[in-house]
Formats: sequence, structure tokens, C-alpha cells
Amino acid sequence: MTAPTKLGFTSFARLRGVLIVFCGENLKFGTATQRALSPTGDLIRRAAAAERFTGKNGSTLDIAAPSGLKLPRLVLVGTGKDSDLKRRDLLKAGGIAMGKVPAVAAEATIVAEFASGALKAEQVADLALGARLRAYTFDRYKTKRKDDENRPKKVEVDFACANPAAAEKAWATATAIGDGVVLARDLINEPANVLYPAEFARRASALTKLGVNVEVLDVAAMKKLGMGALLGVGQGSAHESKLVVMRWNGGKRGAAPAAFIGKGVCFDTGGISIKPAQGMEDMKGDMAGAACVVGLMHALAARKAKVNAVGAIGLVENMPDGRAQRPGDIVTTMSGQTIEIINTDAEGRLVLADVLHYVNKRFKPRFMINLATLTGAIIVALGQEYAGMFSNDDKLSERLNKAGEATGERVWRMPLGPEYDKLIDSKFADMKNTGGRWAGSITAAQLLQRFVDKTPWAHLDIAGTALGSPQTDINKSWSSGWGVRLLDRLVEDHYER
Ligand code: BES
Ligand code: MN
Ligand code: ZN
Repeated sequence: MTAPTKLGFTSFARLRGVLIVFCGENLKFGTATQRALSPTGDLIRRAAAAERFTGKNGSTLDIAAPSGLKLPRLVLVGTGKDSDLKRRDLLKAGGIAMGKVPAVAAEATIVAEFASGALKAEQVADLALGARLRAYTFDRYKTKRKDDENRPKKVEVDFACANPAAAEKAWATATAIGDGVVLARDLINEPANVLYPAEFARRASALTKLGVNVEVLDVAAMKKLGMGALLGVGQGSAHESKLVVMRWNGGKRGAAPAAFIGKGVCFDTGGISIKPAQGMEDMKGDMAGAACVVGLMHALAARKAKVNAVGAIGLVENMPDGRAQRPGDIVTTMSGQTIEIINTDAEGRLVLADVLHYVNKRFKPRFMINLATLTGAIIVALGQEYAGMFSNDDKLSERLNKAGEATGERVWRMPLGPEYDKLIDSKFADMKNTGGRWAGSITAAQLLQRFVDKTPWAHLDIAGTALGSPQTDINKSWSSGWGVRLLDRLVEDHYER
């Protein structure tokens, strides 16, 4: 169990607890930082020389009980050459600084200033957002503290800056995004006995408090619509499948919305084509795409984004059972196209096929972006650093690329092309749901593309980036909430600049 962390903003004059400051190359400090450190005399130069600390980006120097300061500890965080700061640089710096708050400390102050100069209010807020995401833990189910833990009941971390009131205001926006990421992480970390489709739908319904319109379609409604592919995946589960549609209308009345679609497989056993036992517990996170969409809708609504956005998530559980679908079964999708099931473990594409078609037909969106923990093959290709991006639209790809570079949630474009189609030709139906070992992520994307028509569309395969402890300076959790910040930024760039 970790203590809850309270973040606040204060002036350069009010420093308390562990003092954390940023330091440029060759021990350069900003003016307010210099002033705060002046009582320490030559301590910093001597300590830095002893530790060969020069202020390189990402490096840190720890000084306990610094003479001259009535503070328990001083930490220097190197920022290197800190010009041309991107949002991801500020988040990273905030994350590293937060990581240097010792577990036993009840108070800390992070001086929000770089050697290159003071930070704007938005930059201070980004710093605090990085700190907040770094501090995130999921310990809802831990009932015992370890005996040797001598931790404070709560931790207060202040950001000292030039204009605390302005930072506080900018923090309202950053909080909306941070809450969205934390919501996504929480949903992904929840075990599948707690978070089954109906419970997921209930949690998504809480967005109504922020002014989001939420509809929940049950199995009967989906049957009426002809969603044979989605329903086939869920038919072996004791839990009813659900489709949740969320709408945030912050843009021009009647303007075509941006649409975000998520794979929400609350647990993926593989079905009759059952997965091996080793690591299967991770498949509680096979709804990370859906969690990201909910987190994004939260962020957009909470910061009152000037956009019309639709979020749609297909929620199912993929189980082996007497009623489960079999290899060889043929399902009819809402679009009318038929799919032969070769492997019941290639279920995500079946869910998305129906949700993509439904959203496209009902909302005629400006563009559609789907997120899915779709293939193990994308982890083989890209590891945990980049999500795979597949798209029928160069402009949308370029926008996602740019948003990825800015936020640090990066995407790498992978190919699509008719050459791959023969891999999913079926003897009996319009297509089959797997294409064999080769190009596994591409054949999955190729299938999805058949359900989006001409609408600009991008598919993000997040199997590597969303779960399995993708370690960064702003994430130490098993789930990252990957995609919320990326897509929030995409919306901001696209509609609000
Ligand atoms: N949910 C998995 C993909 C996955 C693997 C996500 C590891 C996160 C971590 C997906 O449903 C799946 O089982 N894909 C199969 C497809 C295969 C049967 C064609 C895979 O990748 O092996
Ligand atoms: Mn699967
Ligand atoms: Zn899956």
C-alpha cells in the first residue's frame, strides 16, 4: 500500500521537505534555483565532482542533510540541454523528480524551473502531470502493510513556480488528462472477475456525470443489428456481451464526429483454441483498447474539448464452453460479410469488425481510430516502445506520428496492401479470421480494413505498449494507459489550434 500523494503549487519562497531542483549541463541552474541553493556554498560543486554529476539529461544527484539548508535532502535532476522542450520532456522530468521522493518522506518541493529559464504555467502543469502518473500505483487489493514499512500516511508534493495561481489554472486541464490516464490504468489492472462486460459498461456510464451521453446495447440489441462476429466471441461466456457508445458534443452542432473504437475483451482465454497457462493472467488486460477510449472520453469531457467525439467499445469475454464458438464456424457480420473462424483466439478482430462497421454507418465520422491489444506479433516486431499503426490515410497517419512524438506515445506505421489479402482467403466464407504465422499483425489489420469503407481510419495495435509493465519515467505500473495522452493531443492539434 502506498500513501496517497497530494500535489500543490507554491511560490519559490516557500520550500519545504525534500528539495528537488533541475540542473542543466555543466551544473547550470535557473535564477530562482540558484537563489534557493546559495546557502549551501560550494557543497554542490564538491558533491557533483565526487559523483561525476554534470547535469546530463536523466541523471540525478542525491545529497542527504545538505549543510546550509534546513531541509532533510537535496536532489538534483539533470535536464541536459533543455531548449525546445516538448510536452514529453516535461512529463519525463516530472516523472524522474517524483521518483526521487523517498518513500519515507511526507513532504517534498520540486522547483519548477529549468536552467534555460522559468516555465510557463502549462509547462509547470505538465511537470506535475508527469509526477502524478509516476506516483500511480494500483494497490486496491493489498490489505496488509509490510511490517518494516515506516511510511507516512500521506505525501504532499509542491511545485514551486513563478505564478502558482496560473499553474493551478493550467493544472485543471492537465488533471483532466491525468484522470483519464489513471481511469484507463485502473480499468486495465482490474481482474476479470470484477471487471466483466456489464461492470465495465457501468463504469463507462459514470461519464454521464461529465456530460457524456452513454448508451449500453445488450445482446438482444446487437442481435437485431446483426452483429454475428462480436456475439460469436462472447457466446461461450456466462457474462453477457455489451456494446457501449459514448458521445461528447463539444464541437460545432451537427459537425461530423471523430470516432474512437476500442477492443474490450475483458478476458481472453483463447476460447476453444485455448491459450497455454503460462502468462494467461495477463489477458485480463485484453480490454486495454476499450479502457483507453473510456479514459480519452473522460479527458475530453473533463477539459471540455471543442470537438464532437464518439467512443465505442465492444465488451466480451472469450471463454471455452459448451456454447462457445468452434474453429470452422462461419459468422455473418453486421456488414453482411462472412468470416470463417479458424482460430477462436483471433477474436479481437471479430469484435472490432462489427463495432467499426456500426460506428461508420451510424455516425459517418470524419475519421475513425481503433485501439486494440490485437496481436502478439506486434510485440515481436516493435517491443514495448512503439505501437503498430495501420492506416488507409497518409494525413491521419502523419497527425498521429506528430502527436506521438510530442507526447512520447509513439506509433510506427506498418504496411497494408492487397498483396496480403490472399492470406485471409477462406475456402467457405468471404474471409477467414487468421492468416497463419507470417505477417500476423498485418493480416489482422487487413481484415479490419474490410469494415471501414473509405472513411479515413487508423488501427493502433497496442499489445506491446499497453500492458506487461511498459517501463517509462512516468509509468511503473503493469498497465500504462497508453493512448489517452496521444489521442487527446491529436484532438487538440486537429480541432483546437
Ligand atoms: N489478445 C491477444 C493478443 C495479445 C497477446 C495481446 C499478448 C497482449 C499480449 C489476441 O487476441 C490473440 O490471441 N492473438 C493471437 C492471434 C493468432 C491466433 C492469429 C496471437 O497474437 O497469437
Ligand atoms: Mn486472442
Ligand atoms: Zn485478444
